[in-house]
Amino acid sequence: MRTITDPRELQELCIQWRQQGLTIGLVPTMGFFHAGHLSLMDYVRPRCNRMIVTLFVNPTQFGPGEDLEAYPHDFERDSQLAKDQDADILFAPEAGAMYDSDHATWVNVPDLSTGLCGGSRPIHFQGVCTVVTKLFMLTQASLAAFGEKDWQQLAIIRRMVRDLNIPVEIHGRPIVREADGLAMSSRNAYLTEEERACAPAIHAGLEAAAALVRNGERDAETVKNFIRDRIGDGVPMGRADYIELVEPDSLKPVRNITAPVLAAVAVFVGRARLIDNQYIEV
Ligand code: PAF
Repeated sequence: MRTITDPRELQELCIQWRQQGLTIGLVPTMGFFHAGHLSLMDYVRPRCNRMIVTLFVNPTQFGPGEDLEAYPHDFERDSQLAKDQDADILFAPEAGAMYDSDHATWVNVPDLSTGLCGGSRPIHFQGVCTVVTKLFMLTQASLAAFGEKDWQQLAIIRRMVRDLNIPVEIHGRPIVREADGLAMSSRNAYLTEEERACAPAIHAGLEAAAALVRNGERDAETVKNFIRDRIGDGVPMGRADYIELVEPDSLKPVRNITAPVLAAVAVFVGRARLIDNQYIEV
């Protein structure tokens, strides 16, 4: 595995690979790998000739007061893990190499970016779309994998790729969970012991809500209140940022449940803002 920090060097190499007829798979990450990241690499590796893992804590997707500076990192460990997953390239640029001081071009998907996480993180998805577009341009990837924990991010990237005719296939992959149900996230590292012990109640609340819908409940407000109560009881130190039921692709809020629906939540638990979701069939 080679580590590359210079975007131009990466792009030149990837253009050469594509000219040789090789396919390139991309796993974009912000590092501090857990089993969720490794599952994306496992998925991409056999589906392409060259696998590129990117490790870049993208400053433009963090708002003022968010955890850009505190974001957990362990480059040596990540590098070893990417190598063990048989990545060909670990791309780990500095922010200054990715963004010129007069960077002025932004990619936006406003329709899908204002609700859910966009409510409290208004510039987040513009930063995500811009950096992901840059990664697509740099790597010439024909396939890229993203985790379904960030369901809104995945829906936005799919829409962006469709709207801009970017020649890359987007593959969403299932949430990887700890044994007690907590969705894996680099930000779980922020949890104290007590917070960590309560956090699985978020997933448990979503699962119980799915059962409620399967048993016939069709009113979204009732289901949202049910989730709120369950999470409130299970994570007493938590504060919900949002609890929503939305259409899985358009992310439009649902009032009456007549088709598959996505229950999505974000909960502040101590220093961590934990997100999770559940796709619910009817
Ligand atoms: O999901 C993430 O880790 C990030 O949002 C991504 C896609 C790597 C862009 O910075």
